[in-house]
Amino acid sequence: MAPRKFFVGGNWKCNGAGDDVKKIVTVLNDAEAPRAPSQVKGLLRPDFAVAAQNCWVRKGDAFTGEISAEMLVNLQVPWVILGHSERRALLSDQMIQGLKVIACIGETLEQREAGTTMEVVAAQTKAIAEKVSDWTNVMLAYESVWAIGTGKVASPAQAEEVHDGLRKWLNTNVTPAVAESIRIIYGGSVNGANCKELAAQPDLDGFLVGGASLKPEFVDIVKSAT
Ligand code: G3P
Repeated sequence: MAPRKFFVGGNWKCNGAGDDVKKIVTVLNDAEAPRAPSQVKGLLRPDFAVAAQNCWVRKGDAFTGEISAEMLVNLQVPWVILGHSERRALLSDQMIQGLKVIACIGETLEQREAGTTMEVVAAQTKAIAEKVSDWTNVMLAYESVWAIGTGKVASPAQAEEVHDGLRKWLNTNVTPAVAESIRIIYGGSVNGANCKELAAQPDLDGFLVGGASLKPEFVDIVKSAT
């Protein structure tokens, strides 16, 4: 089986509009500006306008999955539908079809202190596994809740213990092939200084990075496995 390819994702959360985007993209991409990601906008006659189907209620910051009003303006999306009753935050098998999915799991501080970390992440992984029939485009991101945005990173041993436990769970409850091939990445206060030691753990296949992905040190994180 091919070795798992190290993956580093920058989770900008609800940050990154205007000049912030330009700065980080310049660092990452030799001053190449990103293209507007809307296929519809590129195809539509200019006298039609595109609307987003939701937007974040406040100003941008650490709010994963949210798109702020400022981001929409930056993307030249002039309209937004708000409060539609069909919006749901559940993962479903329909959402997975045709998409690559980073499925996040992780325990709270209370759960860790109660010694239930493995139980909690196994239950979360089970709920995901019930929706997945093809694991090719799925990876797991272990993000201990207490480490997100707090500066309190999991130690390499803590992270490895959970990643190894997850692989064992997948081996028993999904298939040995999925357990071997799936990427399990870590998220929670990863930065340029702590990434190398984490990346050296055998069952840690990459990172999902919040705050540090907005800074030049993200480049060090991207290169941490090399
Ligand atoms: O998805 C990544 C994230 O939640 C971790 O955030 O800021 O602790 O790197 P941060």
